[in-house]
Amino acid sequence: MKTIPVRLKIDPYDIVVGNGILSKLGGRLKSLNIGTNAVIITNPAVKKHHGKVLISGLERDGFSVKVLEVPAGERSKSAKSAFRLMEQIARYDQLKKIFIIAFGGGVVGDLAGYVAAAYKRGVPYVQVPTTLLAQVDSAIGGKVAVDLPFGKNLAGAFYQPKVVWSDTATLTTLPQRQIRNGLAEIVKYGVIADKEFFQYVAGNYKKLLDCDPRALEHVVWHSSRIKRDVVVADERETKGLRSILNFGHTIGHAIEAAGKYNHYHHGEAIALGMRVAADISCQKKMCPKHDVESLNEILSRIGLPQRIEGVKTSDILRFMRHDKKFLAGRNRFVLMARLGKVRLVEGVSPDMIHRAVRSCQ
Ligand SMILES: NC(=O)c1ccc[n+]([C@@H]2O[C@H](COP(=O)([O-])OP(=O)(O)OC[C@H]3O[C@@H](n4cnc5c(N)ncnc54)[C@H](O)[C@@H]3O)[C@@H](O)[C@H]2O)c1
Ligand SMILES: [Zn+2]
Repeated sequence: MKTIPVRLKIDPYDIVVGNGILSKLGGRLKSLNIGTNAVIITNPAVKKHHGKVLISGLERDGFSVKVLEVPAGERSKSAKSAFRLMEQIARYDQLKKIFIIAFGGGVVGDLAGYVAAAYKRGVPYVQVPTTLLAQVDSAIGGKVAVDLPFGKNLAGAFYQPKVVWSDTATLTTLPQRQIRNGLAEIVKYGVIADKEFFQYVAGNYKKLLDCDPRALEHVVWHSSRIKRDVVVADERETKGLRSILNFGHTIGHAIEAAGKYNHYHHGEAIALGMRVAADISCQKKMCPKHDVESLNEILSRIGLPQRIEGVKTSDILRFMRHDKKFLAGRNRFVLMARLGKVRLVEGVSPDMIHRAVRSCQ
């Protein structure tokens, strides 16, 4: 078990990463002294695979446990689900000291975190992420949200958990497509911050796809540290430092939206977005070609998409122009300087963007 302290000025917390630590969460919660009545928000698949281990561990440590379920899928990240959950919690929460456990992937994490932030103007919560993407990305950084019909994550807050508890053993029940999805973000961390880590992932991708416990623990731990470093430097996204996390996301988000959020998973769209961003970096002659080839090669080996298929270029470009990362209509891209280093570049010419998108078709 390894601990990564997140040293925020207000509300510091730890990320704990380990293989088979789910049953030990109760011990940590006791020392945090956040209450005795746990409300677990989860979904049926996660409960089926891992609920028993978590719940029996908590009960053994003296907690009472209430489980609330939402259906799997992004549609549960809605205002309607959030308010339904708050009503269920209010009905249960009499003469109790409740706290919330977000037990699932990024959908459950964002939703349960939002509920924790809003219910009674904030009750304590902990993140127990069970997808690779959630362990390396969404559970870290305190961004919680639900979607509105007008767009994703439009109602949200910064609200820090009391602990992030990442048990890599929970990942063994994930479908391969979800492992690949998380690996896209892990490759991104290598590109934006750490060439050696990139090389580790490139050298161990087969083990990672096979859910080798040591390899998984290593990449979750290392990625969590990279994300921690970025969010601690720019907790509320006011200094522009967090923007490096958006490598591949400008085009990636547009590809996701153009596919109506059901054609590509997030990581798949981000993999395509990274290919496009890398191509722009090459066109601008700001990055060695060899580094771009290494990136494309590892994405292909992992089995992430190589070509943009099934979505229209005109839709991608239209969604991109509405990106909230663009300031006053001027586009901004995180581009590669080399493996391990990226730069924020404004005002990339539309021609260059078109060429880069076409290079991935
Ligand atoms: N808050 C942030 O900073 C942040 C960052 C990135 C992404 N996100 C959000 O995260 C969400 C995507 O998260 P995700 O990729 O984890 O998807 P997800 O939460 O939908 O989970 C993917 C699927 O895996 C299943 N699942 C989860 N754990 C499992 C397990 N251990 N075994 C078997 N099946 C399991 C789920 O039931 C679901 O069907 C999006 O809503 C995105 O906006 C948030
Ligand atoms: Zn992402």
